[in-house]
Amino acid sequence: MIPPREQLLETLRRWPDVEAPDLVAVDAADRLILDESRAHRVSAGRGDVVVIGDAYGALTLGAVADGATGIRTHVDALTGEQALDANAARTGLGEYYEALPLDASLVSDARVVLLRLPRSLDALRDIAGLIAAHAVPDVVVIAGGRLKHMSVSMNAVLSEHFGRLDVSHARQKSRVLIAREPHDGRDPVPAAARVAGVEVRAFGGAFAGAKLDIGTRLLLDHLPAAPAGGTPDDPYIDLACGTGIVAAWMATRYPEASVYASDQSAVAVRSARETMLANGVESRVEVARDDALSARPSGSASLIALNPPFHSGAAVTDLLAPRLFADAARVLRPGGQLWCVWNSALRYRPALEKAVGATEQVARNAKFTVTVSTRRP
Ligand SMILES: C[S@@+](CC[C@H](N)C(=O)[O-])C[C@H]1O[C@@H](n2cnc3c(N)ncnc32)[C@H](O)[C@@H]1O
Repeated sequence: MIPPREQLLETLRRWPDVEAPDLVAVDAADRLILDESRAHRVSAGRGDVVVIGDAYGALTLGAVADGATGIRTHVDALTGEQALDANAARTGLGEYYEALPLDASLVSDARVVLLRLPRSLDALRDIAGLIAAHAVPDVVVIAGGRLKHMSVSMNAVLSEHFGRLDVSHARQKSRVLIAREPHDGRDPVPAAARVAGVEVRAFGGAFAGAKLDIGTRLLLDHLPAAPAGGTPDDPYIDLACGTGIVAAWMATRYPEASVYASDQSAVAVRSARETMLANGVESRVEVARDDALSARPSGSASLIALNPPFHSGAAVTDLLAPRLFADAARVLRPGGQLWCVWNSALRYRPALEKAVGATEQVARNAKFTVTVSTRRP
């Protein structure tokens, strides 16, 4: 039996994503999106409801509790998608939705779209254009978020693809924008630029867009010359690759090398694959959507480069990086090296020493520190 919505929402967890008392699996914005979309979902048939940007399943499973079936859902973060599946399995609701990529298959003929507003306006533009291109003409998009993460620029971006935009009253520091009358639909096109000698491609929401982050620049400036590895069995690894700028840089600098790049974000992986194609290195760079390096064998890698994340959804947290350090330590062979750049204020050196081994500072500027950690035997 499907539990009442609020009872269901209370059971949701973030696992396997990081969990902490101040990091929640469902919030007031999720509840407002569910409430404001309810009337539109009453007459929706099987497959009419689409959810985009759900964090841990609150919107998808909340809509199931209200009676929706055949929901199509897209969660950008793999750990978020896994949390949705774990939450659904716990409540026996796995058969009521299907996780799909952010493409036409997700939104074709959609009638009601529940959208958790992304932080990036470019990501919102890609999503709005995609919905406008493929949903039914009378589609209703209920897009919500926390007031502190919303701006009037979001209204402007939605207005590029929707003729009518209504704005709800604020409730518990949250608000929804209701968009109708789609027009000028288009499938997402990646932003393109040439930086640090490589072509970069970025769909909306990929870290730093088609630019070189200043921390990443410091890392590239100090990566070792002619490092060990780079073979098919021991590829250079770009962990948490974003647009794949580090992987593409390594593949062009070492034209014989094999490289492996992974990120848990769907938009990052899609961008990184485009980046490799744009540089003609796609045959030597494998790009995977993965949580850390879970698909890589233990004790196999000589070199891992990492610019770690500090955002879990909209929340800033220092719980993410140590998780990646631990998996990098597992994947490195004894003597293998983790090259890492981090915001100096975060003081990650003890965590690197503990997880990986001896850690030396290689460079430091006003904001960032680059370290190399050598895997202890
Ligand atoms: C600071 S960005 C760095 C991106 C890229 N390496 C660069 O330097 O431009 C951190 C990246 O970590 C990714 N990320 C977050 N959690 C992750 C996880 N558990 N596994 C893999 N990647 C993750 C994010 O999606 C984001 O692309």
